[in-house]
Amino acid sequence: MSFNIAIDGPAGAGKSTIAKLAAEKLSFIYVDTGAMYRAIALGLLRSHTDIADEAALNARLAEISVEISYEDGLQQVYLNGENVSGLIRTEEVSDMTSRSSAIAQVRAKLTDLQRDLAAKENVLMDGRDIGTTILPNAQLKIYLTASVQVRALRRYKEYLAKGQKEQTLAEVEKDVESRDYRDMHRDVSPLCQAEDAVYLDSSEMTIEQVVDRIVDLARERM
Ligand code: DC
Repeated sequence: MSFNIAIDGPAGAGKSTIAKLAAEKLSFIYVDTGAMYRAIALGLLRSHTDIADEAALNARLAEISVEISYEDGLQQVYLNGENVSGLIRTEEVSDMTSRSSAIAQVRAKLTDLQRDLAAKENVLMDGRDIGTTILPNAQLKIYLTASVQVRALRRYKEYLAKGQKEQTLAEVEKDVESRDYRDMHRDVSPLCQAEDAVYLDSSEMTIEQVVDRIVDLARERM
């Protein structure tokens, strides 16, 4: 039987960086489910689909296929056969992802893909509803978070590093808050801590400390 680790938490908690490193140490496959939602969002943006129009949304979703593969250990995500991994990290896609991932039909499209991967392999899967909905029997569940201020500052520094100076720190903080609100208050699979998840607040921890904690917890249970 495969060993599954679920990591959930809000945007900017460092999930993907930490999950990638922990997966490497454990020789597990890292599954970034956010990338799958982002690929769907890109497909919806490209076709100018009005996601509030249920018929239009369903018709478009029926045409969209999402697949993932691994190249040199890195997850690649495909939208209808096209590798879109380099196109899904823009603000526009992030915003559409946050809105479209709240819709049941969008989530239903990815449930089987995520469960099938976890059934076949030892995975460390990160997302928002992995421990609560996708893999309720995961052997280890982590809820990874950090304060709004710390997460906003991390994102702000990323923007500055990329030469993007359109937003002030206060504006980034507001964005983080509103995305949290949306992720936590949607009707379908809202972000919340699974009862049996280990709570980790990374605000005052280094990346290495968080990775080591997760790896230790996994080894204790394997
Ligand atoms: O983890 P991320 O920033 O790539 O996620 C992008 C968006 O997708 C975010 O708004 C939450 C949503 N998401 C989700 O609803 N369920 C998941 N399992 C993963 C991401």
